[in-house]
Amino acid sequence: MKVDILLGLQWGDEGKGKVVDVLTPRYDVVARFQGGPNAGHTLEFEGQKYVLRSIPSGIFQGDKVNIIGNGVVLDPALFKAEAEALEASGHNLKERLHISKKAHLILPTHRILDAAYEAAKGDAKVGTTGKGIGPTYTDKISRNGVRVGDILHDFDKKYAAAKARHEQILKSLNYEYDLTELEKAWFEGIEYLKQFRFVDSEHEINSLLSEGKSVLCEGAQGTMLDIDFGSYPFVTSSNTVCAGACTGLGIAPNKIGEVYGIFKAYCTRVGAGPFPTELFDKTGDQICTLGHEFGSVTGRKRRCGWIDLVALKYAIMVDGVTKLIMMKSDVLDSFETIKACVAYKVNGEEIDYFPFDIEGVEPVYVELPGWQTDMTKMQSEDEFPEEFNAYLSFLEEQLGVPVKIVSVGPDREQTIERYTEE
Ligand code: GDP
Ligand code: IMO
Ligand code: MG
Repeated sequence: MKVDILLGLQWGDEGKGKVVDVLTPRYDVVARFQGGPNAGHTLEFEGQKYVLRSIPSGIFQGDKVNIIGNGVVLDPALFKAEAEALEASGHNLKERLHISKKAHLILPTHRILDAAYEAAKGDAKVGTTGKGIGPTYTDKISRNGVRVGDILHDFDKKYAAAKARHEQILKSLNYEYDLTELEKAWFEGIEYLKQFRFVDSEHEINSLLSEGKSVLCEGAQGTMLDIDFGSYPFVTSSNTVCAGACTGLGIAPNKIGEVYGIFKAYCTRVGAGPFPTELFDKTGDQICTLGHEFGSVTGRKRRCGWIDLVALKYAIMVDGVTKLIMMKSDVLDSFETIKACVAYKVNGEEIDYFPFDIEGVEPVYVELPGWQTDMTKMQSEDEFPEEFNAYLSFLEEQLGVPVKIVSVGPDREQTIERYTEE
């Protein structure tokens, strides 16, 4: 068997959590491959709303095994809060949530370092989620990290060495902090974590594949936040692209099957950094209000703009997307016209590829008629308004990949599969 991969194509928050939940019944296993509690994946069903940060979004569908892979960074304190909340609402995790021994731990001092580095950057700050993501991946790459498997061997020594190193850095930055509460919650988290099954997830996943089991790999963030291909340095610190599933789970490239690329019918970004199609007018406010565009982790207002097909084409190329999923179509239900960016203007010259730097590029738009129809109760593609079908055809023609799923609301049920010929 091959694995399928589902990932965001924009700046995150495309609706990955919702779709992973919808697709999970078709798979035996769901596995997260990168990121950490910087993610906030919102799921709605049966009148309930859940936000997942480190736990894969396949956790609500029956007894499916969910795996936190080696590419993920885990904060035990936040994990405990997230898992306990799920258990309190009747979802038993202990047996079916497996955690890679090779996943790196976010230490309390990583969170402090995240804040200290951001403060030191002043106006140039990235606008991180403050969860210690950058410093934890930095320690991983510089071979100084502490991993989940270390909890079982010589843990106190490893923790103390990492903490001492971090405290040296914080001293050099003259950064004041108090670790007491953070550290207390963190060690409670470590004790809690010990109740879960620590696994060699690369062995587990490859064995499952040889037994004919199917695996869905869930990405966090989005391609435009990828450490290599995103709008650097305003990115996260992991490979959010398709290849991240290979390194973040131990899956060989020739085992990749379908690659689902998710995008919103428009575009959002949270945190600092260039965003060519950002709107600063009433239309932008309207998208923000109608789409409830506020971060599920930080509550920050998301910046809103029109869809950027130059960036999307780039993401599709880098990720090898085979099927597209369009989210939040309903948010545009009331618009008379809809714009799509098909090229950038750089120093007066028009380009249709994603350049080295997107700072200051001007979007070139085409305008399409809106459908001005409430789509939120639609059940099948037969009900789609003509203008909506025209918008889909336009996107497919521009992007060269079929749109197979359309989402028309936050609920699990508000998901429409398209069966049109490819
Ligand atoms: P993720 O990080 O990619 O999982 O996305 P988030 O959960 O951070 O953000 C997506 C938000 O949009 C969540 O609040 C979802 O409940 C909501 N959502 C998902 N799909 C749709 C949709 O089709 N329409 C509307 N209106 N909301 C949606
Ligand atoms: P999901 O999985 C949107 C952004 C932050 C910041 C940058 C770096 O819910 O789509 P970090 O804390 O990772 O060092 O922050 O990346 N960011 C996200 N934006 N959705 C996310 O995750 C994000 N995770 C990180 O806002 O700009
Ligand atoms: Mg999110």
